[in-house]
Amino acid sequence: MLRKLVVGNWKMNLTPREGVATIEAFVEAVERCEEVQVAICPPYMTIPRVHPILHGTHIELGAQDCFWLDEGAFTGQVSAKMLAAEDIQFCIVGHSETRGRFGKLDIPESTVGFFAETHETVNLKIKALLMYSIHPILCVGETLAEREAGTTDSTIRAQLEGAMAGIDGSELEGFVVAYEPVWAIGTGQVCPSDEAGRICRFIRDWFRTTYGDDVASLRVLYGGSVKASNAKELFAQEGIDGGLVGGASLVAKEFSQIVDAAWR
Ligand code: PGA
Repeated sequence: MLRKLVVGNWKMNLTPREGVATIEAFVEAVERCEEVQVAICPPYMTIPRVHPILHGTHIELGAQDCFWLDEGAFTGQVSAKMLAAEDIQFCIVGHSETRGRFGKLDIPESTVGFFAETHETVNLKIKALLMYSIHPILCVGETLAEREAGTTDSTIRAQLEGAMAGIDGSELEGFVVAYEPVWAIGTGQVCPSDEAGRICRFIRDWFRTTYGDDVASLRVLYGGSVKASNAKELFAQEGIDGGLVGGASLVAKEFSQIVDAAWR
């Protein structure tokens, strides 16, 4: 059986100093659950500060995004090469926030599309990460409008086809996909667990059909308003191999309860 994976996505939260304090509390709270693989994706600035604290623990470090070229005149960007130099194990790509679809009314209109990730740039980022042996966490998911129009499955299929174009099955050891319905992210409105399970199995089937046995180690996570109170039911679904957790990963106690739910 695949080992479950729980990833904390801190987004743009916690200063480096606050991040250190939170990581210290995590190590204490999460350390005993070695059966579950745990990774934290803090803001870039925090990575070098928390790295020494995680050394020797089973908690791994991830980043929230990357740029696909190694270096150059790309103000504000951080390359996969730079992440590899910091021993980063995972990197989120194609999150609905970086795809530019915040799906939240309180984000100013001018900000929507700011990051503007496309199928093509998601694909380039994945290729760069694989080149540096960093496991991508590819996020896919439909908006509320797409769900209501009945195009959830075709939206996700298009995201998978775009993201994985030209990538060989031999490169997919440790690859991670997160099903994150945009309407469930940060809203408190979790996807019903049977539907989340169905889509996660749909994603695995797509990989199996495309790559065959090369994807035996693939893990498909669910993300979107995962909390301690709903994690157990979600993680019990066939096809859900863990969670990508935003808001609830900022508090050590809540996050450790989610990790526990993946274990017991
Ligand atoms: P949430 O975010 O858990 O706060 O809904 C999940 C994510 O965006 O990865």
